[in-house]
Order: sequence, then C-alpha cells, then structure tokens
Amino acid sequence: MAARPCRWKCTRCGWCKKLTLAPIEERLKAIAAAGNNTFLLQNRDIFMDMLTDSGVNAMSDRQMAAMMVADDSYAGSATYEKFAAKLVELFGMDFILPTHQGRACENILSQVLVKPGTIVPMNYHFTTTKAHIVLNGGTVEEIPHDRGLEVTSTHPFKGDMDIAKLEALVATHGAQKIAFVRMEAGTNLIGGQPISLANLREIRAACDRHGMIFVLDASLLADNLWFNKTREESCKDLSIAEITRQIADLCDVIYFSARKLGCARGGAICIRSEALYRKMRVLVPLYEGFLTYGGMSVREIEALTVGLEETMDVDMISQGPLFIDYMVRELDKRGVPVITPPGGLGCHIDVMRFLPHIPQAQYPAGALASALFIASGIRGMERGSLSEQRNPDGTEVYSNMELLRLAMPRRVFTLSQVKYAIDRIDWLYQNRDLVGGLVFVEEPEILRFFYGRLDPVGDWQQKLAAKFRADFGDSL
Ligand code: F0G
Repeated sequence: MAARPCRWKCTRCGWCKKLTLAPIEERLKAIAAAGNNTFLLQNRDIFMDMLTDSGVNAMSDRQMAAMMVADDSYAGSATYEKFAAKLVELFGMDFILPTHQGRACENILSQVLVKPGTIVPMNYHFTTTKAHIVLNGGTVEEIPHDRGLEVTSTHPFKGDMDIAKLEALVATHGAQKIAFVRMEAGTNLIGGQPISLANLREIRAACDRHGMIFVLDASLLADNLWFNKTREESCKDLSIAEITRQIADLCDVIYFSARKLGCARGGAICIRSEALYRKMRVLVPLYEGFLTYGGMSVREIEALTVGLEETMDVDMISQGPLFIDYMVRELDKRGVPVITPPGGLGCHIDVMRFLPHIPQAQYPAGALASALFIASGIRGMERGSLSEQRNPDGTEVYSNMELLRLAMPRRVFTLSQVKYAIDRIDWLYQNRDLVGGLVFVEEPEILRFFYGRLDPVGDWQQKLAAKFRADFGDSL
C-alpha cells in the first residue's frame, strides 16, 4: 500500500483515514485499481460509504455498554438466554436458532425445506436467498404485484405479493410442490419497498387453505414497521411492538440478518413448530457453532438483544426512512430519476432513465456506481444485471430494474453529508451523456458482483474527470 500523508501529516499507512475526500485524479486511480467494482474499493479511498447498511449501522450507547457485560461460555450462556427471551417476547415463537448472519439462516432453511423440483414463491428474491434455494434444487417464483416493478409510483406498499399469482402457482403445480412461501420485508432489490400487514394476512389465509409454510425474511423489518405505522390505516394507533406481533402472528418462521435488524452482526431463525425446529437444529452445530451462540460473539449477542429492543422505538426506526425520504424527494425535484415512493434501506437511482444510452449488456448501474465514485468519492452498490448470474448457456440474465443503491446506514451520516451527495448526483445527472458502459475483464461464475473486474468502454472516465475539473476548478 502506498504511503500517503494523512490529516495529521503522518505518512505511515493511511489506515486511520476514515473520512477522506481525495482529489478526483486519485479517485480515478482508485476505481481503476478496484476494477470498476465498488466492492473492491478500499475504505480509505472513500468519502461517504453508501454501499450497504449491513453490519455498519452505528450502535447506540446502550448497545456498546451491553457488550461489556457478557457471559462468555461455550454452552448455556446467560447472554444467549436473554437474547432468545427477547425474540420470544417480540415474535411470540417459542423456538430460536442463532446463526452467524442472514444467509446462514437461508442455508439451514433451504437444506431442510427445499427438495429438488420444489418451488419457493416470493414477493422478490434476494441474491443469497435465491442462491441457497437453487443450490438445493429448488426454483424461485417472484410474484409481486405488477405495481412493484413500476419504478415511479405513489403506491405505499410496492413489496406486496399478488395473491392471484400465488393461487395460480398452487393450481398449476399443487401445494405439495411449494417448499414454502417467502415474504421479504422491505423488499431489498426493488428499492427497499415495504409490505403491508393486510397483504400478509391474505398470504396467511392462502397458506392455511393449502397447508403451506409461511416464512418471513425480517432483515429489513425495522424500516417496514415504520411504513406500516405511517402508511397503513389499521396500524396508525398501534405501537411498533404491537405491529411487530401482529406480523409475527401470521408467520410460521421468521429469520433475519442481524447485520440489519438489531444493528449488530449475526442472525437468527424463530420457529413456531417444534418438529420443524428439531429438523433445523441439527444443522446449527454443523455450520454455525453451538446452539447457544451460533457463530456470534457473546458481546455481539448482548448488543443485538438491546438493538432488537430499540427497534420497537418509533423514534429510533424513523431516522433511516426520514433521511431516505429527504434524499429521494430532493433528487426528484431536480429531475433525477429515482425509485418512488421512497422506501427503506437507501435511495435508489433508476439507472435505465439516468443512462438510457447504455445498453444492459454494458451494465449501466455498474457504470453509474463507478461514475458517482469518480465525481464524489461516494460508494454505492450496483443492483442490476451485474448482480445477476448468467444462464447455463452463457447468455446474460437482464434484471427488471437497473438500480444504483445508495444505502443509508443508521446513525452514521448527518443531513449535510446527504446534501453533499444530492449535489454531486445532480452534477452527474447534468453530465450524464459523458458516462459510458463497462465490460468484464474478470468474471467469476457465482455471485460475480463481489469479485468481478471491469474496464470502461472507451475513455469516458477521463472525459468525466476533465469536465469535473473545468466545472469545479481546484475543488476536490
Ligand atoms: N435477506 C435480505 C433481505 C438481505 O437484505 C440480506 C443481506 C440477507 C438476507 C442476507 O443477510 O448479509 O447477513 O448474510 N443484505 C445485505 C445488503 C448484504 O447489503 O443488502 P447477511
């Protein structure tokens, strides 16, 4: 690593430079070194990290304090007892399994419930969820309402499932072919769009009619609860804990990534049926760790227990959605194409409209992520065709939406930082014709977006940097 003088004029390493706005010429070099893949950027080169809210939400003072009082025993720790009791209190399910993160829950669920040839209907897939289901021989059927895929809308719950499509699937394949029905709160890949309590009630009724298991991915539940409270009439007078319980009462299984829900790092599966719990339980010591830590550190479990409790505080869960709301509306006012209505998780830029001149074959969302880093030092995440996997015959799978996700980790940014992001995105939009496509130079077969490397098509990045210098002068 090249030594660079830091704010304190120390030339040793650069590790301590958490918040750096390097000059655009250095940002150009950094994104080239990262193969135009924002996952491969070094944190020291980043000014605002909007890659994800996963594991990077700031912990509260109470969470930090709780970490100091943990019972560190391999088996039967009191820390775990407290954690399990909190989940039983919140979700009302008696059986809890700890895991090291969300995808570990998906591994266990899929190994137990997905058999070759079975189908998992869902409102929308998440990358790791789909990978585990497919690995176990199942297929994913996405059945959101059509409105879920409309990029601009005023519908408050674009994450809802279309019950008619669920019934049609059951009629065609038979309920015995349905491994389970999965709903994802705060539907990640279509812009953090929430699901309604009313829709969950309809799904429960369908599952009862056909004897199907209903699983909720609650990783993004905190934002979803805020939207239930503020957008759904029947929830207006309920506390967050009451809404949580009404949602949970409709489900057979709830799992979550605690890197999101609870602002810590870990995960858990909550199960209503003892028989199902016993089937899943054997896999925890095999893949995660003993049953009373599941791969998590006890300090993290203590923080998570407090984080889950704090999620029931309406003021605590409002911060993310309110900042996202501000960012989306301000960009919208400036004519920048964004996913509406504002959802949870982050602000999502609609790249099909931002860069209509770049074909999906040249990964427009990846190109915009690269361009935004050059223009601002902000790291976002591509959520489009680059995040898909090729068909077995090598042809591309083009995603329904090409999104640049700018996540809003909780208690991390100030509103002035958000205003900076809006300013630079606005400038980039004025100069969008300068942005060109990307082409793979190194393409992994599985989850290619994590490690793949790409080159720009032509010299558009140099031209973009030159325009930046012309417009901003000596400014960074
Ligand atoms: N389900 C959803 C809805 C998620 O958003 C994630 C992770 C997972 C499952 C997997 O959880 O990362 O703890 O293994 N989403 C992260 C993101 C990676 O950045 O959106 P995990």
